Amino acid sequence: MNTLEAILTRRSIRKFKDKKIPKKILNDILKAAMHAPSAYNQQPWQFIVIDDRKLLDEIPNIHPHSDMCKTAALAILVCADLTKEQTKDMWAFDCAAATQNIMLAAHDNNIGSVWVGIYFRKNYMDAFKKLFNLPQHIIPISLVPLGYPDEEIEKVDRFKKDRIHYNSF
Ligand SMILES: Cc1cc2nc3c(=O)[nH]c(=O)nc-3n(C[C@H](O)[C@H](O)[C@H](O)COP(=O)(O)O)c2cc1C
Repeated sequence: MNTLEAILTRRSIRKFKDKKIPKKILNDILKAAMHAPSAYNQQPWQFIVIDDRKLLDEIPNIHPHSDMCKTAALAILVCADLTKEQTKDMWAFDCAAATQNIMLAAHDNNIGSVWVGIYFRKNYMDAFKKLFNLPQHIIPISLVPLGYPDEEIEKVDRFKKDRIHYNSF
């Protein structure tokens, strides 16, 4: 799959098969996350791989839009590490870029995923901090449940000419 094809055919997957993700593929996905661009190249991220079934089943109790965790093989919690900040207030964007890389690398390996937003809903952030013992300087940004798709979602065309502006709005 080339890059453009991966971008244009990726869809959110919320139902997964009962099948494990090989460690090599998981590491490739994490490598892709860490190759995301970041402000000042600060790479302000930490990743928590959640493959404990009890924890995966607990997540929908703390986040109302994360039911897919119940069938996910694992989930990656993308966190910002404030001790790595080199320029003010850019870490959320950096972690968003890492999140997208995770999803595209997963898709390239025929693994489905969905972005579950955490930052900056304070109640979700507090609940994830508590469940995963995050220290004060670690901020949960997004959760990406992953697994082999057990549903097919049509690709869509979202190209809108009227959203493009040349030189001035
Ligand atoms: C910041 C952000 C937060 C999101 N939060 C959730 C979520 O909590 N639960 C969920 O099921 N999907 C969530 N999504 C996925 C979107 O619903 C999905 O990307 C959108 O509907 C477009 O569909 P597609 O991913 O299939 O292209 C989130 C996406 C983004 C970018």
